[in-house]
Amino acid sequence: MSGPNTNFDPVQVAALEPEAIEANVAAALEAVAAAGSLEELKVARTAHQGDKSPLALANREIGALPPSAKAEAGKRVGAARARVAAAFAARQAELEAERDERILVEEAVDVTLPTGRRPLGRRHPIELMATRITDIFVGMGWEIAEGPEIEAEWFNFDALNFDADHPARQMQDTFYVANPADESGEGSGLVLRTHTSPVQARALLERGVPLYVACPGRVFRTDDLDATHMPAFHQVEGLAIDEGLTMAHLKGTLDRLASEIFGEGITTRLRPAFFPFTEPSAEMDLRCFVCRGEDAECRTCKGMGWIEWGGCGMVNHNVLRATGVDPDVYSGFAFGMGIDRALMFRTGVSDMRDMIEGDVRFNAQFGMEI
Ligand code: PHE
Repeated sequence: MSGPNTNFDPVQVAALEPEAIEANVAAALEAVAAAGSLEELKVARTAHQGDKSPLALANREIGALPPSAKAEAGKRVGAARARVAAAFAARQAELEAERDERILVEEAVDVTLPTGRRPLGRRHPIELMATRITDIFVGMGWEIAEGPEIEAEWFNFDALNFDADHPARQMQDTFYVANPADESGEGSGLVLRTHTSPVQARALLERGVPLYVACPGRVFRTDDLDATHMPAFHQVEGLAIDEGLTMAHLKGTLDRLASEIFGEGITTRLRPAFFPFTEPSAEMDLRCFVCRGEDAECRTCKGMGWIEWGGCGMVNHNVLRATGVDPDVYSGFAFGMGIDRALMFRTGVSDMRDMIEGDVRFNAQFGMEI
């Protein structure tokens, strides 16, 4: 019969010996220190803290000890495991902090880098200005008309009361597309229109009276390109024909346009002038919208208080007759003003060449408008 194994001293379980436990702790701490990444730390944790780690196995041995020895062994193993757990936790925190820092650096987004997106196109500021101006006319109940840029000499000059040998034909330096018509009327007589006024005659012939029409468009003159001149520029023509129209209506219309384009209260001034197609005729000036005539040093109007804006007048009876309108019944006024100049005034563009050189960075400054 076998009795209890009296040789067995449970207090002497090898795995619970202080040296053995100390060695396990040392091995664990070494592994913790050696782990250079969270992955390596995870492997070390399984080996030294996991269910099958020496300390976990030692912990299980405690159950086999006699009650008198349990407490001390338990304390020893518990303290050892706590040290190992603390070392793992500290290293874990350290490695996580390192990883976060690395991610911040490696995955940082430089928000100032150019995007790969294609920049959107933008409408040209002259186009926008023309649209804005025509919108004002539409708001007043006027129609919009357009005419050809390559124009019959007849519409550009003859219908507008320029005689064949009228010096005014030289007044506007004309690009001829084909030779001017000779005295016998031979030749195509095509020009790049020198103003938008030919649309007056076209609109009268096509639409009849009464008529309130605005015509924005490009016009051409043989001017050299410099900061204030362009061989191709833009005008908007206004023409009103009705019964009983007077210069007061002209002035009122111009003042309204000036206010709408340049700001409330900006008015116009008329100075006597000559155009073959209007009688009487006037140059129209715009009240300086910067100083309103109150600053002798003003850079915009050069202290004049006024800015030249275009020409205008009462439609010449000869023009009405040439287009089949009875001047005894109808009268009307017309005006033509520069769109590019309006853009310069409004935005402070000081060199007209910027408007036509096609640099998109210029257009971009005027923002996006649909
Ligand atoms: N057509 C003229 C110009 O180009 C302006 C104008 C238009 C004058 C209508 C009178 C009436 O200068």
